[in-house]
Amino acid sequence: MEFPVDATLTAQAYEFLAQLVYERSRIRLGFDKQSLVSGRLGQRLRALGLSNYEQYCSLLRSPHAEDEISELIDLISTNHTHFFRETAHFDVLQRDVLPALTGRLGFAQRPLRFWSAAASSGEEVYSLAIVLAEFARVRPAFTWQIDASDISQRMLDRCRRGIYAAEKVELPSPELLERYFQRGFGEREGYYRVKAELRRHVGVQYINLFQPHYPLPKGLDVIFCRNVMIYFDVPSRELLVNRLTEQLAPGGYLFVGHSESLIGISHSLKSVWPSVYCRTC
Ligand SMILES: C[S@@+](CC[C@H](N)C(=O)[O-])C[C@H]1O[C@@H](n2cnc3c(N)ncnc32)[C@H](O)[C@@H]1O
Repeated sequence: MEFPVDATLTAQAYEFLAQLVYERSRIRLGFDKQSLVSGRLGQRLRALGLSNYEQYCSLLRSPHAEDEISELIDLISTNHTHFFRETAHFDVLQRDVLPALTGRLGFAQRPLRFWSAAASSGEEVYSLAIVLAEFARVRPAFTWQIDASDISQRMLDRCRRGIYAAEKVELPSPELLERYFQRGFGEREGYYRVKAELRRHVGVQYINLFQPHYPLPKGLDVIFCRNVMIYFDVPSRELLVNRLTEQLAPGGYLFVGHSESLIGISHSLKSVWPSVYCRTC
C-alpha cells in the first residue's frame, strides 16, 4: 500500500534536517536545496509509512535514530562520479607523482599508500588502481595499496562490488578494459566487473571525514579528496585540509577537485600543479 506523503517540507522541518545533516557530515544545505531535499526524502517517508515531515523529524529525534540518520545522510549526499574524472589528475599522477615518489623511496622498501577519501561508488578508486597497475607492469618491484572510504554505505557497497554498466566504463584506451575488467554474461550481460587482481589492492570502509579519528595509518603517500569540499563551508574545509595534511607523509600529495582551490583557507601545503598540493615538511 502506498502511503500519501504531505509534500510540504515546512521551513521548520527543513531547518531541523539541514542542521542535523550539517552536524553529522558538515554538508551545508542552503535554502535553495529545499526542493532537492524533499525530492530525495519523499520516497523514504513512504517506505517508513510516514505521512509528513514532522513525523520524520520526530523519528530522527528519537533515542535510537542512528541508523535513520545514516540513511538520511546517504540520501542527501551527492554521489556523482565517473571513471577518469578530471583526467589531468591521472596524467600528473602517472607522469610526475609516481616517478617522484618511487625515485625518493625506491621500489622495494614498502607499498605506496593511497587514500580515496570520498570514493563514492568506486570509479575514482579503480581509475587510480588502473594507473598504478599500469605503472607496476613495467616496474614489477613497485607495490601499492588503496584505502577507499565514503560516508554513504550504499556507495561503499557499490565500490566493494566493482560492477559497472558497460556504457559507464569509459577508459583512456580499449586495452585497459580488456586487461582490468571482466565482461558479464547471462544476468550480468551489459555490465563489467573490475578484475579481482585490481580489487585485492583496495580496502573499502566507512569514514566520515569529520569523525574524530581516521582508522588509517599516518604517512600516506597520496590522498584524493575530490569534489566533496564544495559541499562544506570554509571552516570545515580548513579543518579537513589540515587533518588530511597530518595524514600525509612529508612529500606526500593531496589532490582536490578542479573547482576546489584552497584559496582563502589557512594550510601548510605547497601548490605543485593545478588542484594538486604537496606536504613539504
Ligand atoms: C560528488 S562525490 C565525489 C566522488 C569522487 N571523489 C569524484 O571526484 O568523482 C562526493 C562524495 O563525498 C561523500 N561525502 C560527503 N560528505 C562526506 C563526509 N562528511 N565524509 C565522507 N564522505 C562524504 C558523498 O557520500 C559522495 O559519495
